[in-house]
Amino acid sequence: MEGRILAFILIVCNLCMRCCEGDTARNETIAENSLAQFSCNVEDISTTIWLFTGRKEVANSESISQGDIVYPKFEDKFEIEMSSYNSSSELNLKFNVTEEDEGLYLCQEGGTNKAQFRLTVEIPPVLQLKRENLTVSTDMDVVFNEQVTITCIAEGGKPPVRLSWKVNGQEKTGPFIDNSPPSPDRRITSVIHYQPTLDDNRLACVASGQQVISEQEVSVGINVQYLLNCLIVVTNDTNAFIITCSCEANPDVEKYMIYVNKTLFSENQEAKLPSEKGATVFCIATNKVANYTTKEVELKPFHEEVPAHVTRVALIIWLSVAGIIVVIVVIVAVVCICRKMKDVDEAEAHAKEAREEATRIQMNQTAAVMSMVPVPDWDSKKDDNTPLKDSDKEETPDKGEGSTKTLEQKDGNQNAADMAVKPLPDDYDLEQEKENLMSNAE
Ligand SMILES: *[C@@H]1O[C@H](CO)[C@@H](O)[C@H](O)[C@H]1NC(C)=O
Ligand SMILES: *[C@@H]1O[C@H](CO)[C@@H](O)[C@H](O)[C@H]1NC(C)=O
Ligand SMILES: *[C@@H]1O[C@H](CO)[C@@H](O)[C@H](O)[C@H]1NC(C)=O
Ligand SMILES: *[C@@H]1O[C@H](CO)[C@@H](O)[C@H](O)[C@H]1NC(C)=O
Ligand SMILES: *[C@@H]1O[C@H](CO)[C@@H](O)[C@H](O)[C@H]1NC(C)=O
Ligand SMILES: *[C@@H]1O[C@H](CO)[C@@H](O)[C@H](O)[C@H]1NC(C)=O
Ligand SMILES: *[C@@H]1O[C@H](CO)[C@@H](O)[C@H](O)[C@H]1NC(C)=O
Repeated sequence: MEGRILAFILIVCNLCMRCCEGDTARNETIAENSLAQFSCNVEDISTTIWLFTGRKEVANSESISQGDIVYPKFEDKFEIEMSSYNSSSELNLKFNVTEEDEGLYLCQEGGTNKAQFRLTVEIPPVLQLKRENLTVSTDMDVVFNEQVTITCIAEGGKPPVRLSWKVNGQEKTGPFIDNSPPSPDRRITSVIHYQPTLDDNRLACVASGQQVISEQEVSVGINVQYLLNCLIVVTNDTNAFIITCSCEANPDVEKYMIYVNKTLFSENQEAKLPSEKGATVFCIATNKVANYTTKEVELKPFHEEVPAHVTRVALIIWLSVAGIIVVIVVIVAVVCICRKMKDVDEAEAHAKEAREEATRIQMNQTAAVMSMVPVPDWDSKKDDNTPLKDSDKEETPDKGEGSTKTLEQKDGNQNAADMAVKPLPDDYDLEQEKENLMSNAE
């Protein structure tokens, strides 16, 4: 009985001791490159020291400071901040955390432990995405429904992170994800064999599972390329089929091929086919990522009479056009006739001038002949006179007909020229000629 009680007391004491031990060493987890601040309340700062026991060397502790003075060896690293109250003081040890700072920090006053901190340093991982051994740095082109393998690599994280995937912000889980166990070199990978859907626009790899460092992620924009739902649409035109091939595509369709009765008919998106003959048609569309062959469509031949209202409209249009043409022709004709008449008037005026001139010359000549001894250069004078007589005679009867007159005038001139080269006849009667001239002049 006594033994049992003793054992019970021992157990309770043991528990109590553990509890107290645990209480004295506080676990502090701090992210690398952030500030650690450990505080210790004492009464006598002059007998107070901070000790550090690193992880590497076993139980080999070093003194960092005495009172509020940091030893020269640690001056660059640590800082002591002191605040005093009524009867007690607080000594704060401050430093910027690196991985080497992990270990036990102990505050002693006169050889008694006053505070203990066990520092654990957390290091965020460096994340990157790779596609076939190439780092993904810009938006990624993927093909709809075509599996793509992306690897997420987390390096240097401490403690090891857990990797997961998000598409459009939604977590993706499934057998298409392979996670590697953490390796001693702090490298973790996760591979996703991912099948893009049309709505996908962003893929992210998320690292989580650290205590003080929040989730980290690396992500990439996704451009899903596709060629889908191509189909042939046929509409009826006047005795023709309009065949249109259309698809949903990213990037745009580069080439269409419309086949009629299994032979290539057109390389445009749209084709027109006479409707007299039937046919089977289909289309092949191509973009950067795929070829798509549509179903065949059967076209039944048809022929339709041009509807009456169409004829009427056509008739009205044609009549209008004809009317306009007639008006133009009339205007042109009128203009031409006016021009001609103007010419005739001018010609007449010229003729009249010529006549007057001729008459004047004739009179002069007559005068000359009358006062003349036999003339040596008769020919030239006769030249001038003869046509004059001719035109005089001819003009008087028909004054109206302009064109014929001009012609006859020309003839007259020709006659004059003919006569000019003729030699004088042997029996030429100068006296008779003189008389003729004079009578004419009168
Ligand atoms: C601190 O961590 C150690 C081991 O990591 C553990 O044994 C101990 O109970 C922890 N102490 C507290 C107060 O959480
Ligand atoms: C700690 O040191 C690192 C490296 O010198 C620096 O980038 C960081 O800003 C420091 N952190 C603080 C809280 O001073
Ligand atoms: C300091 O002493 C005064 C008077 O004795 C007391 O009222 C006050 O609470 C004390 N302050 C602290 C921080 O102990
Ligand atoms: C990626 O690199 C590894 C190691 O260099 C190699 O074994 C693997 O075949 C490469 N994969 C591709 C897709 O190039
Ligand atoms: C085209 O005309 C044919 C024959 O008249 C007819 O059977 C078919 O329904 C028409 N199609 C359309 C789209 O109007
Ligand atoms: C397509 O083939 C059918 C059946 O052989 C034939 O009747 C039709 O005239 C052909 N159409 C054209 C446009 O060649
Ligand atoms: C489409 O078909 C052509 C001819 O058959 C071929 O050369 C080409 O590679 C195909 N394109 C795609 C993206 O499948």
